[in-house]
Amino acid sequence: MKVLVTGGLGYIGSHTVTTLIENGYEVVIVDNLSNSKIEVLDSIYAITGVRPAFYQFDVRDEQKLDELFEKETPEAIIHFAGFKAVGESCQEPLMYYENNLGSTFSILKMMKKYKVCNKIVFSSSATVYGVPDSVPLTESSPIKEATNPYGQTKIMIEKILTDFAKVEGTNVALLRYFNPIGAHTTGLLGEDPNGLPNNIFPYLNKVAVGALPILNVFGDDYETVDGTGVRDYIHVMDLAEGHVLALKKLEQDCGVFVCNLGTGKGTSVLELVAAYEQANDIKINYQIAPRRAGDIAENYAGTEKAKNELGFECKYSIKDACGDGYRFQIYSLFVQRIKSKNREKEVVQE
Ligand code: NAD
Ligand code: UFG
Repeated sequence: MKVLVTGGLGYIGSHTVTTLIENGYEVVIVDNLSNSKIEVLDSIYAITGVRPAFYQFDVRDEQKLDELFEKETPEAIIHFAGFKAVGESCQEPLMYYENNLGSTFSILKMMKKYKVCNKIVFSSSATVYGVPDSVPLTESSPIKEATNPYGQTKIMIEKILTDFAKVEGTNVALLRYFNPIGAHTTGLLGEDPNGLPNNIFPYLNKVAVGALPILNVFGDDYETVDGTGVRDYIHVMDLAEGHVLALKKLEQDCGVFVCNLGTGKGTSVLELVAAYEQANDIKINYQIAPRRAGDIAENYAGTEKAKNELGFECKYSIKDACGDGYRFQIYSLFVQRIKSKNREKEVVQE
């Protein structure tokens, strides 16, 4: 089956592409590189031996998307493309509503036009549950008013997809991710955001290799196991596998399927730091800092539905994720150094 992956060169998208290829899917990627690099395509090729068809444009460009559909006729879509930084969404709400909703509208218009494409997997988030009344969070936990525009777009898109599916008979998987971490087990793919990372794991990676001096642990006075925030960290390769299982579910004409993807286990910030140190035999420089505005104390996923209805079970541990993430960060540093040496040579030759 041919699958169109929007945002397929981004963090979760690129890892999912490798898993799709390994499971025999034909992949077409569209990405405007607003938060990714073209080199990711080489890493996908190095890992899988396949270079998927790649289109570089903004998914909101309906004319280009129409041409892509005409040429490629995908039967399913995995829709990762969107902006994802919570803090930035509070500063630039319009940018978030325009991109996240706009890209979804373009895709749905194409699905309406090209009826053969009647399956879509959407990257939703645990953020739709807001401040939890209790944990674990199950799919029937209430959807709360989001505390930021980013979260609001996820709630709105879930609703839009559900309404669309009712009329068009589309099969939709709304996958609510918890906290993806780690990297491809080869260390050739991972998360390497430009600038200062917002999320803990890429920050930890950069502290580990000395690219950042110290990790700020945001708050140690929450009502949790050690006072620091607790999250459900899921290895990105397990998350990738979840998308393949979701596609299989959609092939059974399941209508709208809502599902958490997490491990079911909460881990505190200090526990994550300790796991990272142990996995890589290094020391992480950290300090306790004030709480970050908008953070919740604790969340983790209820995993029964994913297990029973998708057959989803995590294979990798936090320690695996820490080892893979560190390996990728070292590889990434190495690539950057080679690039800057080459640039130096070019300048000298000029
Ligand atoms: P990412 O930024 O690494 O990947 C998104 C990709 O989409 C990037 O390659 C970017 O260039 C591309 N893109 C953005 N807007 C586009 C547009 N209009 N047209 C074409 N390409 C566009 O992010 P990620 O971490 O891989 O997240 C993927 C999806 O999962 C996002 O929708 C995000 O909101 C969701 N999600 C992520 C997390 C997380 O912690 N990483 C958690 C829950 C949900
Ligand atoms: N944290 C630190 N220091 C940092 C960064 C984070 O201590 O430098 C702490 C946070 O306070 C929190 C934990 O690490 O306790 C995780 O924070 P992240 O920023 O990595 O992740 P969040 O749980 O805040 O949010 C992430 C994504 C959202 C997504 C959500 C789903 O950023 O988009 O997971 O649960 F919706």
